[in-house]
Amino acid sequence: MSVFPIYRPRRLRASENLRRLVRETSLSVDDLIYPMFVVHGDDTAIEISSMPGCYQYSIDRLVKAAKELASLGIPGTILFGIPETKDALGSEAYAEDGIIQQAVRAIKDAVSDLLVITDVCLCEYTDHGHCGIIEGGDVQNDPTLDLLVKESVSHARAGADVIAPSDMMDGRVGAIRDALDEEGYENIPIMAYSAKYASAFYGPFREAAESAPQFGDRRSYQMDPANAEEALREVALDIEEGADIVMVKPALSYLDVIHQVKTEFQMPVAAYNVSGEYAMIKAAAQNEWIDEKRVALEVLTSIKRAGADMILTYFAKSVVEWLEI
Ligand code: PBG
Repeated sequence: MSVFPIYRPRRLRASENLRRLVRETSLSVDDLIYPMFVVHGDDTAIEISSMPGCYQYSIDRLVKAAKELASLGIPGTILFGIPETKDALGSEAYAEDGIIQQAVRAIKDAVSDLLVITDVCLCEYTDHGHCGIIEGGDVQNDPTLDLLVKESVSHARAGADVIAPSDMMDGRVGAIRDALDEEGYENIPIMAYSAKYASAFYGPFREAAESAPQFGDRRSYQMDPANAEEALREVALDIEEGADIVMVKPALSYLDVIHQVKTEFQMPVAAYNVSGEYAMIKAAAQNEWIDEKRVALEVLTSIKRAGADMILTYFAKSVVEWLEI
């Protein structure tokens, strides 16, 4: 490569049109998935205090919100349910008339061009707030698989387009794939939360989904934030078991992991720009310490640059507005 003064990198930065031509990464509406929370009740939208602009919607309001997403051209939503009652086995997670099952049916009836992805986990539905069956103070892996399978199949029956297991039990992708195939849902893709870290960035989500663990933490099943090689092993396992899309979560503190997963596996990679990442930007922007639009677009672009094909983000609707201006 020629050197200064022959090569002057600033030449190509001189105007916006030049910058547009040499820009390597672009963020578009095509990349976005908007997460939503659904509760029982009517005509309800409760704003989540640590996530300004995000709500717990009753089903009627959720359908309205889903229509808005479709009209903005956002390809998909991922749904999280807050049940009426919780118990040790998270029964409402796999009940035919559970909150998610009802919500999926309602959206599918009313909105035709929006992908409905369902998060498969038990922590929102269990009274102890953990992602599986508890025995001896810890989550039991293999018995939990049966419940996750039931939950996935019930989501598929309700009409879910994509199943997204977020529990981090070993072997769940294979178990869910087998069951979906057996029930005739061989064409429903699995978006696996493959490298999901035990992160402090989920704090606001746990308020939104009312899913904070009642004792202990999730470190015996979610990954240690210090590990990247282990993430590659987790992703490899999920792909072998039948994952169609692999996810890294959170996104911003794990850009290196996103990059390695993309380079190593050449699979569709999703990244979850989680609640804490959203809340930090919102809070700083409300204090006028940072420019919300510029910071959010910079963060989301960096997640794409790292290698993500799609981003689950609470900024999705704002991004569409920002990109149109
Ligand atoms: C369920 C689940 C969580 C998130 C997505 N699915 C919470 C957790 O694992 O504690 C977090 C999403 C976010 O923080 O935005 N297990």
